[in-house]
Amino acid sequence: MTDLTGKHIVLGLTGGIACYKSAELCRGLVKEGATVQVVMTEAAEQFITAVTMQALSGRPVYTSQWDAREPNGMPHINLSREADAILIAPCSADFLARLVQGRADELLSLLCLARPAERVPLLIAPAMNREMWAHPATQRNMAQCAADGARILGVGTGSQACGETGDGRMLEPEQLLEDVIASFQPKALAGRRVLVTAGPTFEALDPVRGITNLSSGKMGFSIARAAHEAGAQVMLVAGPVSLATPRGVRRVDVKSARQMLEATLGGVPAADVFIATAAVADWRPAEEARHKIKKDGSGEVPHVRFTENPDILATVARHERAKSGALYCVGFAAESHDLVSNAQAKRARKGVPLIVGNIGPATFGQDDNQLLLVDERGVQELPRASKLVLARQLVAEIARRIGA
Ligand code: C5P
Repeated sequence: MTDLTGKHIVLGLTGGIACYKSAELCRGLVKEGATVQVVMTEAAEQFITAVTMQALSGRPVYTSQWDAREPNGMPHINLSREADAILIAPCSADFLARLVQGRADELLSLLCLARPAERVPLLIAPAMNREMWAHPATQRNMAQCAADGARILGVGTGSQACGETGDGRMLEPEQLLEDVIASFQPKALAGRRVLVTAGPTFEALDPVRGITNLSSGKMGFSIARAAHEAGAQVMLVAGPVSLATPRGVRRVDVKSARQMLEATLGGVPAADVFIATAAVADWRPAEEARHKIKKDGSGEVPHVRFTENPDILATVARHERAKSGALYCVGFAAESHDLVSNAQAKRARKGVPLIVGNIGPATFGQDDNQLLLVDERGVQELPRASKLVLARQLVAEIARRIGA
C-alpha cells in the first residue's frame, strides 16, 4: 500500500514555465499509487507537450472540451466526477482569475466549475513572477478562490525563471505530493496544537567535539508530519539531524538537552499534546572546554566528568498544564529488553498517561519500526510498518484518548 493507492487525481496544467516541474509531480503521484488524468490548457501546451504528460501518466491527455473520445460529449462532467481530487499545478495568475469568475470557455476551468465541491477538493499550486504574485488583483483572487472552497497550497520563494528573486515560484513536486497525500488523511486533530521533540541531542565537550547518539529523528519527524496531516498545528523541536522539515510544521532547531528543554517549555503553554520522541542524552560533560582539548604527546588522556541532563518529558509532565489535564503527554521508551515491564515502569516514573515502547537497536536509523502502546488500560501493539504509517496510527490513538 502506498499513500495514494486507489486515488484518482486530475492534474491540471496551465501556462507557466513551472510546467516542467509538473512532469516530476505526475511521476510522484503515480509512484504513490494514484491514477492521474492530465488536463492541459492551450497555454500549458506551449511549455510542455501532451506527449510527455501522457507517457508519464499512462493516459491520453485532455486539452479540449470538444474532445470526441467521451461518448456523451461531456468531458467536464466525466473527468470531474471520476476525480478524488483536482490539483492545478502550475496555476497561472490568469487561471486563478478565471476560477474566481467562474469562466467555462475551456476544459480545465469548465471542469473546475463543474466539480462536485463537497466531494472533490480543488488544490491550487500558484506559479508566477513575484510582481504578478504580489499584485493586489492576484492576492484578491487568491482570497476569493479560497473563500469559494479551493485550497491554496502556497508558493515557494527564491530565484525565478525571469531572473528575479522573490515569492511566486511553484512549490517543489515533493512538497505538492506531501500536500496531496495530507489532503486525504482524516482530520482527527483538527484545531489541536501538538508539540514534538525529535532526534538526538549533542552535548559539547569542546568547540569541535561532543557526545551524541544514533537517533535519526525519523520517528519524531514522521509524528510531526502525521499530526499536521491530521489537522493539528505542529511545533517540532529538533536535535541535530539532516531531515527535511515536514510541510506546514514549525521547526525549532536545538543542539543540547538544555536548549531542547528551553525550546520545549516555550511551546508548552500553547500545546494540547506533547510527544517526546527525542533521544535526549542522559548526561553531559560537566565542563565545556573553551578551546579544543589538545593531545600533547605525553600519553595523558583527559578525564571527563559528567553531570545529569534535565528530563524534558518529566519536567513537562509536572507542568501545571499537564497536571490540569489540558496537555496530554506521551513518552517513548527505547529498550533493548523487557520492553513491556520497562515501559510500564517508565510510565509511572515520568508521570505520563501513555508510553510508546520500541526496541532501540531495531529502530535507530531504520525506516520502519514496531510500537507498543502502554497506558492505564494495558498494552496495545502496532505491528511493524513504516514509521510514517505507525505515526499516523499513533496520532489516531492519541486523538481517541483525548477525545478529539
Ligand atoms: O528516561 P528515558 O530516556 O528512558 O525516557 C525516554 C523518554 O523520555 C522519551 O520520551 C524521551 O524523549 C524522554 N526524555 C526526555 N528528557 C530526557 C530523557 C528522556 O524528555 N533527559
